[in-house]
Amino acid sequence: MYKKERRIVLRKALSLLCTFALTAGLFITNGAVPAMANEVKAFKPISFETGTEGFTGRGNVTAEQSKEAAHEGENSLYVTGRTSAWNGATINVTDYIVPNTEYEFSIWVYVPEAASETTFQISTQIDVKDSPSYKQLTGADSKKTVKPGEWIKLTGSYTYEAFDVAQIYIETDENGKEASFYIDDANLISKSAIEAKVEELTPLKDIYKDLFLIGNAGEVSLFEKDTNTNKLLSRHFNAVTAENSMKPDGQQKEKGKFNFGPADSLVKSVKANGMTMIGHTLVWHQQSPAWMNTDVTREEAIENLKTHIKEVVTHYGSDITAWDVVNEAFDDSVTNPSNWRGALRNTPWKQAIGDDYLEIAFTAAREANPDIKLYYNDYNLDNVNKREAVYYMAKEFIEKGIPIDGIGMQGHYSLTTSVTNVRNSVKRFAELGLEISVTELDITVNEAQGNAELTEAQELAQAQKYAQLFQIYREYSDSVARVTFWGLTDGSSWRGDRFPQLFTKYFQAKKAYYAVADPDKFLEENPVQEVQKTNKIAKATHGTAVIGGDESAWDAADTIDVNNYAMAWEGAKGTAKVLWDEENLYILFKVTDADLNASSPNAYEQDSIEVFIDENNGKTPYYEEDDGQFRVGYNELVSYGSNGTPKVGEVKSAVIVGDGGYTVQVQIPFQTIKAKKGTIIGFDLQVNDANQNGVRVSISKWNDLTDYSFMNTEGFGRLLLF
Ligand code: XIL
Repeated sequence: MYKKERRIVLRKALSLLCTFALTAGLFITNGAVPAMANEVKAFKPISFETGTEGFTGRGNVTAEQSKEAAHEGENSLYVTGRTSAWNGATINVTDYIVPNTEYEFSIWVYVPEAASETTFQISTQIDVKDSPSYKQLTGADSKKTVKPGEWIKLTGSYTYEAFDVAQIYIETDENGKEASFYIDDANLISKSAIEAKVEELTPLKDIYKDLFLIGNAGEVSLFEKDTNTNKLLSRHFNAVTAENSMKPDGQQKEKGKFNFGPADSLVKSVKANGMTMIGHTLVWHQQSPAWMNTDVTREEAIENLKTHIKEVVTHYGSDITAWDVVNEAFDDSVTNPSNWRGALRNTPWKQAIGDDYLEIAFTAAREANPDIKLYYNDYNLDNVNKREAVYYMAKEFIEKGIPIDGIGMQGHYSLTTSVTNVRNSVKRFAELGLEISVTELDITVNEAQGNAELTEAQELAQAQKYAQLFQIYREYSDSVARVTFWGLTDGSSWRGDRFPQLFTKYFQAKKAYYAVADPDKFLEENPVQEVQKTNKIAKATHGTAVIGGDESAWDAADTIDVNNYAMAWEGAKGTAKVLWDEENLYILFKVTDADLNASSPNAYEQDSIEVFIDENNGKTPYYEEDDGQFRVGYNELVSYGSNGTPKVGEVKSAVIVGDGGYTVQVQIPFQTIKAKKGTIIGFDLQVNDANQNGVRVSISKWNDLTDYSFMNTEGFGRLLLF
């Protein structure tokens, strides 16, 4: 009793002392009170590879190391013999915790396939003077239902105040009180240790101060004093874009009722902190009220557009240095970019006004303020056709004297973004003499996967891509005015589930930070492995097949192996045979894949085959008119890439699912060539392999080992029509 009482007093004293020591710049190393560094131990992640690693059973249960299941590695902890909901596994974390600091605890949980779905909760027992209290850790993921046969991660946070003993444990709800389960990979992280680290990093805005602004996006909460958010923002960024408040529905949801309040507070804080304020956005098809442009005449719509622009631009005046006047006005798949009007997205503004709504908007913005920069802003501007359409529009505006100062390349990129395409686009826009800003930069590492964690390989690949992009921005710094990241951390980003930012949700710098801070050094130390380019050639035999008919039609054709892996995991593979006649290619594709799944909403994540065709064998870093991507799922779903369905002829397919795999027959019409003996076309084949959760885990290819075949034909192999 006495001992415990002393301990709680000591802990309180220690935390006070530490605060004092830090503020006063003192370092305590001796005396009756041990230094904090010795007192609070660093928590080592637990993997159960060496034993129970500090975990014990809670209640009268068995908790032992097991090889029956493992999240990673070979072992986990198996908990069995439970009779109450609170029975489970527990770890004493007393020695790892500083009071009044927020901690996050995470752990993976599994119930065997034969068992029932079970709901788990992470909780904590806090003992003060022998009197225990029980609290659930907070956060949406601290309680989760686990399906049999699936590892699920639980994460919860807690801030301890006074305690003698603190334990964290896993329990179930009442229904699951007898469930046996496995746990693995537990970790406890303090958020304040992380905070200190933020302050050691070189500010990005200083590194790039002579080249361009470094911005971020958010609202006035970015400026809440003494928060990690504010510290990180002030340290690295000198420009801020309103993430939502200045969008049409934020400014004038109801006709004539302007709501400037939230954005005004943002502007005030931005100015008070000596940063540059960016306005986003005046004209868009999303986050905009329908009254502006739906069920109104052209004249009314023009009136609404002009009034909105005039009022909003005038209100902020020159506190805003640049406005994204029009946002995302172009279609994603553009076939004839020089006719840029034909490439416009069919938005309510376009429907109400016509394709001159853009020039009306830019002109109105200039009238409202002659001194600010006016931007056209869009995503996918690394896509050559979309970029060209925007280029032609801007060129025409410049020639006609329609005011436009800049192109905003949003830059919502991913690991498959081609940096060559980005470079070409920056170069192309620079040719117009306009300024370029990267307005919404992020790089996602995968498709949204609720429970996924950022792997080291993904973190590295992401950082390499950031480094390559910053090399380009630096190279074109005469044209690049600003690079704005869309979100501060993986916690606050709109695409946070795909880890797109430079900092973790705990404000820790990821590899991507170091890549941006010094791209050359980063790439020197972490060179991008050039995917080895093979240039295989295969033969297609002359002949015609009936789709759904006898496979023997392909008997005379050579076998092409589709067994080179473009991702780390080596899953399903296949073989193909190809016939050709004057109108079509006929492909017989056999896939070995015992475990078929089409539960993902993305066709490319379903078990499927793909055929890539580059009829002129042009090997371009983008798709031309003659290029096509054709996908057939084992479930007979046919889908196409960015060039859409063929304009000539018809794609026909037939699928047979058998033991251990499936066979696809597919007929693909030629689009731009009249096939003849001796013709060589660019060609590739791919097998997509989904796991049981509907996530694509493996891609096998014939020739092109990149995952860019859907947008870049450079890596395709060759097919000789023989
Ligand atoms: C996003 C915001 O980040 C989210 O908070 C909001 O819910 C939706 O809009 N392109 C744009 C931005 O131009 O305005 C979008 O911002 C992201 C895509």
